[in-house]
Amino acid sequence: MVTNRAAEDTLDVEDAERIRLLEQCELHRMDAELLFDRIGLEHGWAALDLGCGPLGVLDILAERVGSSGAVVGLDRDSRMLEAAAASLPARGLPGVALLRGEATATGLPGHSFDLVHERLLLSDIRRAADAVAEMIRLARPGGYVALQDKDVISWTCEPSHPAWDRLKAAVVAVADGDPYIGRRLPGLLRDAGLVDVEVDVHAHLWRPTESYRTVLLRLAAMNRDRILAAGALTGSELDECLRDLEAHLASPDTIVLCWTLFQAWGRRPLSA
Ligand SMILES: C[S@@+](CC[C@H](N)C(=O)[O-])C[C@H]1O[C@@H](n2cnc3c(N)ncnc32)[C@H](O)[C@@H]1O
Repeated sequence: MVTNRAAEDTLDVEDAERIRLLEQCELHRMDAELLFDRIGLEHGWAALDLGCGPLGVLDILAERVGSSGAVVGLDRDSRMLEAAAASLPARGLPGVALLRGEATATGLPGHSFDLVHERLLLSDIRRAADAVAEMIRLARPGGYVALQDKDVISWTCEPSHPAWDRLKAAVVAVADGDPYIGRRLPGLLRDAGLVDVEVDVHAHLWRPTESYRTVLLRLAAMNRDRILAAGALTGSELDECLRDLEAHLASPDTIVLCWTLFQAWGRRPLSA
């Protein structure tokens, strides 16, 4: 895994985004394992990871369902799927089916999966409720729909810094989806008719050695054009914020708290 900033500077935006998402998989790996323990994911299940990116939870699902189960990963971005196709066999997991498609209209047959899962997709898209409806359509009666998504309420640093506040506000303002969606996940499932809905949350510190500590800098740089077009910051203000915050985050005395990862899961009623 590449975490070196200088190395990233030589990569294009898509490469840098794939690397960021693979780091994110490691960050939330234990949270995902706990979620699947609580759901009781077993050998033989058919599972779908919607918006799987370059890995998502495909490796965890494939290990858990084994050769008698089936795992499908779906994403709209073919470069993400190419990365997944390259990495899964290298992890000893060749049997995952990868499909290009749209989360709100997958074209897959209904009632096909024991578990339909998404992580950090709903916060990335405008039509989150439509994606949830599609997930429920794909679950078999009695099957599970599981959502893992962020709520940036806890994404902060201590001591606070004006550059953090300005950059976080700028990144949040240009997001396609709702960066505070985490708290809404159980309500989305209940409103769509799921039963036995449960919720949990996870929070993490980013320590000085962890590259995700500076993810706000990377997201602000990746979204530079959108931030400038939105008019919240000028180019020189953005550069100054990036410089100031990089120095602040470099101090081992600065605490950086991750966004809150909400998990909500429930079952499609047997009669539906
Ligand atoms: C933030 S990434 C999360 C990736 C992965 N789920 C994980 O947790 O590492 C969001 C992913 O959703 C995909 N995506 C965004 N909008 C989508 C849509 N409307 N339909 C399908 N995939 C979509 C993106 O291409 C990207 O791979």
